[in-house]
Order: sequence, then structure tokens, then C-alpha cells
Amino acid sequence: MTLLPHRAKSVARWNSRKKELAVAESVRITAGNQEFELAVTTGSEGERGIDISNLRAKTGLVTLDPAFMNTASVESAITFLDGEKGILRYRGIPIEELGQSSTFIETAFLLIYGHLPTSDEAQKWEHLLTRHSMIHEDMKRFFDGYPMTAHPMAILSSMVTSLSSFYPYALNAKADEFRDITIIRLIAKLATIAAFSYKKSIGHPFVYPRNDLNYCANFLHMMFAVPAEEYRPNAVAVKALNLLLILHADHEQNCSTSTVRIVGSAQTNLFASISAGICALWGPLHGGANQEVVEMLEDIRKKKLSAREFINQVKDKKSGTRLMGFGHRVYKNFDPRAKIIKKACDDVLLQMGIRDPMLDLAKELEEAALSDPYFIERKLYPNVDFYSGIIYKALGVPTAMFTVMFALGRLPGWIAHWKEMIEDPSTKIGRPRQIYTGPRENHYLPMDKRG
Ligand code: ACO
Repeated sequence: MTLLPHRAKSVARWNSRKKELAVAESVRITAGNQEFELAVTTGSEGERGIDISNLRAKTGLVTLDPAFMNTASVESAITFLDGEKGILRYRGIPIEELGQSSTFIETAFLLIYGHLPTSDEAQKWEHLLTRHSMIHEDMKRFFDGYPMTAHPMAILSSMVTSLSSFYPYALNAKADEFRDITIIRLIAKLATIAAFSYKKSIGHPFVYPRNDLNYCANFLHMMFAVPAEEYRPNAVAVKALNLLLILHADHEQNCSTSTVRIVGSAQTNLFASISAGICALWGPLHGGANQEVVEMLEDIRKKKLSAREFINQVKDKKSGTRLMGFGHRVYKNFDPRAKIIKKACDDVLLQMGIRDPMLDLAKELEEAALSDPYFIERKLYPNVDFYSGIIYKALGVPTAMFTVMFALGRLPGWIAHWKEMIEDPSTKIGRPRQIYTGPRENHYLPMDKRG
């Protein structure tokens, strides 16, 4: 297939990029009474990292950095994020511009192949994404095995890994002749699987994809159409979904993306690596937060708490309550995506004629938090999840599907990182070290000698 850039091109780009990242300086460390020199690598936006890959060989020491608070695990050319300045760019293009002008599938191409598609590439990309959206009929029967109450993220992750059983030639992650078609299949089919998981949960018949609709309109059609009547996707809903998916499309080395990379570093196939990423995203501290935000808002309303009362509860550490949708490991300033989503939330609700008291409550909570010393001192701002659930709710997406929507959006980012890693000849299997703190050597005791 000549559709998309070949691996050779990617490798050439990678090698020239490596030359650009010339070692500009070094640092010295003292261990015992010896001094060692460690190289410093500088990125294209001036970020600097000490290269400690030889540290253990030189000194016998490893670095200890739980939760990778201070560790760059890779050099990556996909997404740039400056958490202090609130900047997010995909392949150099500001998120605000992409949100304003791009489509989700164009942004997906940008992330995965490194450039905006030409009109020829865009046409082929769109054509292939629509032509590969059906899933094998046998896969439909898998859905029958789940209880109606199954969380759609459980279905999504297992269906994605099941895809590898239908495309055995995709199992060889290094075989680049099948890479593009595997990527296309995955993006096209994830929307179908996601919509089918929702249909399963409400006991409705599956609605097959339609090739005359664009990606977002087709997804809404598969979610909300029923055989009994004609369905026309609402243009406001299509636009809002397009924006939300673009905003979620990548966020460099977050928990789920790092998971995809570490699983993929074992040369695990794309479907299985992405399935692992979906599982990581499910957690309430990561992508699961969008569901938690709406549940939190509902709970506050049910208990008739004021925004101030809830904020006071959050500040009391003994309560174990967090303000979901607030705070971020990297952003210590406004999350640029949250700014865009907040505005979109106002626009979508207005255009759809919806008055949602949840939005008012969310705004009250935001105002109360942003003027409170607890949040100011800890630099806690609304993140991407704070307002996204309110938009999804307006589109008719049920709360349990919110994290699935996040997965749909994040898929191109995961794929881009998996591809960057698998095509980098210097990739090694990911395998951190540890500092062992358990018992020193002791011996097996027979049962009658154990205390
Ligand atoms: N509500 C109340 N307090 C918070 C919150 C919050 N949402 N977030 C952080 N804090 C407090 C912590 O209690 C801690 O206080 P302390 O210094 O007195 O102990 C301090 O702020 C630092 O928080 P950490 O948990 O150490 O920060 P970390 O970077 O590890 O966590 C995280 C980031 C997980 C996002 C956290 O802010 C959080 O739990 N937020 C709520 C969940 C959420 O919205 N997740 C979505 C993140 S975006 C995404 O993944 C798409």
C-alpha cells in the first residue's frame, strides 16, 4: 500500500532528529570520592534532561523516582506540553488552532504520521477509515457473553485485544507492511465497538456503520439510531464531538500512553498494546475522572450541599474527598483544553437549548476552588475532565460511556506513540529497576517449625 509514509522515511526523520538533539552540556556528580560526568540532552523546546543510562555501570547507583515525577522515559517528537505556561501542541501545532480548524481524523493523521495530510492523503485516509468500520460478524456474538450491567470499558478493552485474533498477520509488531492497515482498522473499528457496547447495555439492536457519514456523525448514528425510524445526526452534536475528540487525542507520556509504550516495548502487537492503554485509562485518577466528575456533581445536588460546603469537605483530608476534574500532574496552570471545553460547554448547551443546573454548579465549584488558598497554594486548576462530561451528557451519552469517549479520542495518540517506539531502532524493552526493601536471605521452614 502506498497510502502512507513508509517506515524508511520515519527512520530517516528519527535519525536526523537525533542529530538535532545534540548533546550540548554535561553535569558532574560525585559518588564516594569519585566524580562522574553525565551528558545533558536538550529537546527542541529547550527542555533538558540528564542522561543517566550509564549511571549504574559507572557508579553502581540507580535513580529512585516513584511515579516518574522527575523522569523523562523517552525522547518523543509527537506532543509538546508546558504545564507552567499552559501550552499544548500536537506536532508543533497549538491545540487551540486544531480545535478551531481541524477534524478529528485529520488530527489523528497528524499525530500518527507527523504532518497534516495533503488533499490526496486526506481523501485516502478518510476513505479507508470508513471502509474498515465493520467488525467481523463473529465478534458480534462476543457481546452476548457480557451481562447487561458490564462496564463498557471492560467490553472495549477485551474487544480490542480480541481484534488481534482476526488479523493474525498484525501479531508481528515489527512487520511494517501491515502496520498502516492495522492502524486504519483499529481507528475505524474502535468507534463501532464503542457504540455496540452501549447498544448492548440498553438491550437495543446494533446499528451498523454508514459510509456516507463522517467519523463523528457516523459514531452518533451508531449510538443513537434505531431501526424503527430515520436518524439524522445533529450538526451541533457532531461539531462538539469532533472538538472533544481532538482535545483528547494526545497528551504525551501520561499513564495510559506510558502503558501502551511499555507493553509495546516487548514488541507486543498494536491491538494488545492499545487494550492495555484502555485499561490504564479506566482508572478514576486518569480517564475515569470524567465519569467521576458528573457523579460528584449529582451527589452534591442530591445532598443539597453548596459549592462552598463541598470545597470545605474536600479540604478536610480526613474526608478522603477530592474535587474530581481538578489538578494535574503536569499542569500547574490552566489546562488549555479545559479553557476550550468550558467555552464549548456554554455554546453547546445554548445551541441545543439545554439548561443544565450541573453546569451552574460546576462553575460555582470552579470559582470557589480558584479563590481558595488550598487550591491556589497547590496550583490546582480544572483539567480536561471537569467540563467534558457536561457536554457528553448534553449529547445524550450516558455517564458510564464517558471514559469510552475519552478512549476514542486518545486512540490516535496511543497509536502515534506505539508507532514512534516500534520504528525507533534504538528501542529496548521497558524494564525499570527497583530498590529492594524486603527480608534479607532467610530459609524455607517446614510447617511444624513455623511460629
Ligand atoms: N482535590 C483535592 N486535593 C487535591 C486534588 C483534588 N482534585 N488534586 C490534588 N490535590 C492535593 C493533594 O491532596 C496533595 O495535597 P498535599 O500536598 O496536602 O498532600 C496535592 O494537591 C498534590 O496532589 P498529588 O495527588 O500529589 O498530585 P499528583 O500529581 O500525584 O496527582 C492527579 C494528579 C491524580 C490528577 C490529582 O490532581 C487528582 O487526583 N485529581 C482528581 C482526579 C482527576 O481529575 N483526574 C484527571 C486528571 S487529567 C487526566 O488524566 C485526563
